[in-house]
Amino acid sequence: IMVKLGRRFKYSIIIPAFIVTLILVYKLKWDSSLQTAVYNEQEEIWKWYNYTEDNLNGPKVSMDDPRVIQKVKNFLIKPLDNKLKYSTDHSYRLSNPEVKDPSMGQAEKIRNILQNRRNGFFIEAGALDGETRSNTLYFEKYLNWTGLLIEPDPLNFIEIMKRNRRAWLSPTCLSINPYPDVVLFEQNRNMGKIAVKGAKVTGTTVNVQCFPFYSYLLALNITHVDYFSLDIEGLELDVLKTIPFKDINIETLSVEFAHVPGGKNAVSEYMFSQGYIIDSEVTHPDWLANDFIFTKM
Ligand SMILES: *[C@@H]1O[C@H](CO)[C@@H](O)[C@H](O)[C@H]1NC(C)=O
Ligand SMILES: *[C@@H]1O[C@H](CO)[C@@H](O)[C@H](O)[C@H]1NC(C)=O
Ligand SMILES: *[C@@H]1O[C@H](CO)[C@@H](O)[C@H](O)[C@H]1NC(C)=O
Repeated sequence: IMVKLGRRFKYSIIIPAFIVTLILVYKLKWDSSLQTAVYNEQEEIWKWYNYTEDNLNGPKVSMDDPRVIQKVKNFLIKPLDNKLKYSTDHSYRLSNPEVKDPSMGQAEKIRNILQNRRNGFFIEAGALDGETRSNTLYFEKYLNWTGLLIEPDPLNFIEIMKRNRRAWLSPTCLSINPYPDVVLFEQNRNMGKIAVKGAKVTGTTVNVQCFPFYSYLLALNITHVDYFSLDIEGLELDVLKTIPFKDINIETLSVEFAHVPGGKNAVSEYMFSQGYIIDSEVTHPDWLANDFIFTKM
């Protein structure tokens, strides 16, 4: 009887001790894998902003130069192909999945113009985190569109990567000139912008590679865009002036006009000269939207 009791006692110690050890080992492993994930995130993101000098920037470089097109391709992440896996089944990881349309009304206007078109292609410049006030998420989620999300700020770009958008991603900016260029970008959450030469720069900055709009289209081998959302805090008109509208077909646009130096008339007049009319305006009392919706004449 004594022997049996002793054995039982032994097991009553050994088994719980074994379980506790197992838990500790797993916890340790999990913690260290978490740390590697965070570390790799930083590494992965900064890799995109670490430029080596090539001769493919500046006024002498053409936006349809095959070397530029190849370079754009190197700055494009295929839909759901980023190296940081935020879920194995590629499901959306949204902060507010219950919000059907996080845009401030732009998406609804475009949806009405295009009559709930399915399988379209969008380009959104100033994509922020890919969810907050996103003008394109609805199209992707409910109408099976795909597209290209362009966002220069590394802090925002990493957030886009986490959301598993079914779109191409690019940690770059639309050039305000008809050639590729590296610019100084002022990081300021949803109000970040390209620092124009001569202007006083405040806050954190980062160097960002910009490409002309047309170079992205050539890299993606497309000439048709169903909806282009342009919200880049003041340089919208400069970007629009780089676009060869006669060579491509952009069916609808939303363009923020609030910060454009020439004012909203400068934007509407230029777009009129390119064959577009104003469908409507989208405004928001808290200045969260001040957009023209353009369609073709
Ligand atoms: C930047 O690139 C250089 C050369 O390609 C490399 O040696 C360096 O480690 C990179 N830095 C970062 C932060 O990725
Ligand atoms: C959704 O779009 C993809 C292309 O992006 C296409 O292959 C697929 O057939 C579409 N699905 C439906 C249900 O329209
Ligand atoms: C580009 O697209 C056209 C049709 O839209 C296709 O015929 C051509 O093969 C594509 N080129 C490449 C390089 O994918």
